[in-house]
Amino acid sequence: MTAQPHVVLEDVSKLFTRKPDFAERIAISLGWPEPPVVRAVDGVSLEIGHGEALGLVGESGCGKSTLGRIVAGVHAKSGGRFSFDGKEEADWTKADAKRARLDIQMIFQDPMSSLNPRKRIADIIGEAPVVHGLIPASQRQAAVAELMREVGLDPAYARRFPHQFSGGQRQRIGIARALAVEPKFLVCDEAVAALDVSIQAQVLNLFMDLRERRGLTYLFISHDLGVIEQLTDRVAIMYLGQIVEVGATRDIFAGPAHPYTQALLEEAPRIGRGRRVYAPLKGELPSPLAPPPGCRFHTRCPHAMPVCKTEAPALKQIAAGRIAACHLNDKAT
Ligand SMILES: Nc1ncnc2c1ncn2[C@@H]1O[C@H](COP(=O)(O)OP(=O)(O)OP(=O)(O)O)[C@@H](O)[C@H]1O
Ligand code: SF4
Ligand SMILES: [Mg+2]
Repeated sequence: MTAQPHVVLEDVSKLFTRKPDFAERIAISLGWPEPPVVRAVDGVSLEIGHGEALGLVGESGCGKSTLGRIVAGVHAKSGGRFSFDGKEEADWTKADAKRARLDIQMIFQDPMSSLNPRKRIADIIGEAPVVHGLIPASQRQAAVAELMREVGLDPAYARRFPHQFSGGQRQRIGIARALAVEPKFLVCDEAVAALDVSIQAQVLNLFMDLRERRGLTYLFISHDLGVIEQLTDRVAIMYLGQIVEVGATRDIFAGPAHPYTQALLEEAPRIGRGRRVYAPLKGELPSPLAPPPGCRFHTRCPHAMPVCKTEAPALKQIAAGRIAACHLNDKAT
């Protein structure tokens, strides 16, 4: 990691307001309250270093994809600051914005729905670099062939359509398409979740090879803790739109500090010495429309104290390179 982080998020939030439907518009005109706002991401601050692989985990609906999409420029944030290579988004020139958008590419979970079914692979992969002036049209075929080889696909299939490939191959096509614009940073959102376990391992190996070869930085979103442990250097844990703990992956898996991380990493009993199995989380996940006051985890936390119901704990450094937001750390400081 160099001194200047690659990506910095400061107090970033994303609010989703649903447009009221016809019946709701009538209700609102009669004085009923407007549809509620979801704070999908609520005051998140994070730094990601050059060449680092940061994992992002948390239960369904906690805001992982929304945060990933903000980083990749797919969603505009509602508040906070975003910097790329030391320059804040608010100060970007048009050229900065274009470069950042190409430099940060997103890999999605379902390659079938993110690939245009009517386009040939050669067009899916080769279009963006020509459109953005990265290669002349005359070099397109050679560039596509090279990219296909890089992700483990036979360039002889360049004229085929997405449906003629398997799920794993389609994910490789999605990766080649992202690599075509020479990105520095990949946001992978459940990028192997839709694949069979054996294929998952191959695609994860590809991500690791690309990291070595291209010096890529990753924001790796996954609900699969085994994948996170294998692939990332650091991990950030999210709960109801907020970060509750960040630390080196090795340290967090060896000893989770935050009660939510502890609950996430609780292992289910297993027979023999197979793959680690995690137990499902206990207690009901509160609605993101009305997160609990104080510490958002207090309704499910086995260590909850009276203060937890009223005061939100701040993220504090609890060890070198390790931060957590929990009142249990109040006494220590
Ligand atoms: N476009 C949208 N409009 C309205 N609400 C949204 C939208 N996208 C996400 N949300 C809401 O924001 C919250 C966070 O969603 P998000 O998809 O970021 O969660 P996630 O952690 O990626 O979940 P999962 O693990 O299921 O993919 C959820 O409550 C979700 O319903
Ligand atoms: S602040 Fe309180 S409720 Fe929240 S995780 Fe810590 S002990 Fe549990
Ligand atoms: Mg998601």
